[in-house]
Amino acid sequence: MTAEPLSLHQIGIEGADVLTALHHGSFPPDTGERWGGSELSEVLRMPGVLGLVACRLDEPLGYAMVRFAADECELLSLGVLVQARRTGVARSLLAHLLGLCKSRAARQLFLEVREDNEAARAFYKDHGFKQIGRRPRYYQLADGGFRDAVTMACAPDEFKNRNKNKHHR
Ligand SMILES: CC(C)(COP(=O)(O)OP(=O)(O)OC[C@H]1O[C@@H](n2cnc3c(N)ncnc32)[C@H](O)[C@@H]1OP(=O)(O)O)[C@@H](O)C(=O)NCCC(=O)NCCS
Repeated sequence: MTAEPLSLHQIGIEGADVLTALHHGSFPPDTGERWGGSELSEVLRMPGVLGLVACRLDEPLGYAMVRFAADECELLSLGVLVQARRTGVARSLLAHLLGLCKSRAARQLFLEVREDNEAARAFYKDHGFKQIGRRPRYYQLADGGFRDAVTMACAPDEFKNRNKNKHHR
């Protein structure tokens, strides 16, 4: 576990290249969860969408992208580079996002996760997210197969903040 603090930076379309590099470094190409760079740029341009990049010593290590609409917030994508995993990067991003939800009066943060993505499901569950639904055959894999998406949600007041890093810029 490194002691170096993380800094979190909110980005818009100007950060599309960084966000795309992080996204592609987080999701293998054959998982059905990976978006193309132009898709990510299009989404970043949409109203209510914002990106967040986590850096350690100015090196981008993880990202999140969310969309605020009405009184909800959707976590569109979250990823951490393989070499930086299990060092609290995603935990810091999530804590910041739940803070944004609170300040913008979003009543919940929800997301879809591939049913067999054990790491992500464990991560969300550990922070207070609960399963609220399932979308059959939501992800198409490179081999032509399909996987269900599990929908999970957490209200700001139910969030279990396990973040020990309080040194965000
Ligand atoms: C899921 C993911 C974002 C977690 O990022 P991370 O920065 O490694 O997570 P953190 O270090 O903040 O972990 C916080 C806690 O989540 C849980 N967790 C994280 N990864 C886990 C894993 N592989 N197995 C079990 N629990 C895990 C643990 O409780 C962990 O706390 P601990 O390390 O003190 O035990 C990362 O594995 C990833 O980028 N995966 C590929 C992309 C992806 O699946 N994104 C989510 C799609 S919805």
